[in-house]
Amino acid sequence: MRKMSLLLLVMVIVVMAGVVQAQDHAYVGASKCKMCHKVQFASWEQSTHAKALDSAKGSTDPAYDAGKCTACHVTNNDETMAGVQCEACHGPGADFKKMSIMKDPEKAAANGLIVPTQETCDGCHKDDGHSKVVDLATEMTNAAAIHEFKNPPGE
Ligand code: HEC
Ligand code: HEC
Ligand code: HEC
Ligand code: HEC
Repeated sequence: MRKMSLLLLVMVIVVMAGVVQAQDHAYVGASKCKMCHKVQFASWEQSTHAKALDSAKGSTDPAYDAGKCTACHVTNNDETMAGVQCEACHGPGADFKKMSIMKDPEKAAANGLIVPTQETCDGCHKDDGHSKVVDLATEMTNAAAIHEFKNPPGE
């Protein structure tokens, strides 16, 4: 019994350390990704994702309310990070954007890089009467939804 609770305690500590680590990475903004990812940046810039704060601010129904809209129309719930930027889908980049880390997918992932999954989209695309659910597999070839790929997934 004592061994069990010790094991549980260790597990709780490990999980908590993981949570703290996940919050550790800071956001840097899309302009910091631009210099190495020109193709993706150029097509993302044209997307409704990039312009999502402007469209929410121009909205009358529903009316713009920072407290409500920034959950999905900006990055990291931070109004100064306008739109659904790279890091909203790929994770906060401060610790993975260095070339020495970026070029190694394992190191990049360990430093916060996320390869988006359906769950990434589900965070903002809900079936809630305002937003609709999107299917990532379908959208994967839709540059207006994601961005143009330099190395298309699966090729
Ligand atoms: C100093 C250059 C550099 C910067 C800055 C940079 N990257 Fe990268 N990134 C790379 C390189 C090199 C690769 C690996 C080869 C490739 O896909 O071009 C890569 C790969 C990636 C991948 C693909 C990972 C995979 O496993 O499929 C993603 C996603 C990515 N970067 C996102 C970002 C984001 C988001 C930012 C900004 C926060 C960023 N990068 C900043 C150089 C950079
Ligand atoms: C849960 C995430 C979420 C929240 C919170 C949210 N939105 Fe949206 N919004 C979306 C998504 C996703 C879309 C894309 C359209 C779709 O899914 O049908 C969207 C689309 C829009 C559009 C574009 C419609 C068009 O046809 O171009 C406007 C305008 C908008 N939202 C305004 C707002 C305003 C204003 C608020 C705050 C009161 C808000 N949204 C809160 C996720 C959200
Ligand atoms: C941080 C929240 C957020 C995340 C994460 C996100 N989106 Fe969006 N998405 C939005 C918002 C907000 C809009 C509406 C933009 C606007 O018109 O103002 C949108 C718009 C879209 C649209 C255009 C819908 C239309 O009818 O104009 C598509 C397609 C889309 N997203 C696909 C995706 C996919 C695929 C993913 C996952 C890889 C994803 N999104 C992740 C918030 C998000
Ligand atoms: C709406 C979510 C979304 C946003 C915003 C987004 N990406 Fe992506 N990105 C994806 C998805 C999905 C993939 C494909 C993942 C896979 O390989 O399964 C991807 C793949 C990539 C790749 C690897 C494939 C390639 O193109 O070579 C890079 C690099 C990348 N993104 C960089 C960026 C940069 C830089 C930005 C901002 C300018 C950005 N992404 C914005 C969803 C997004």
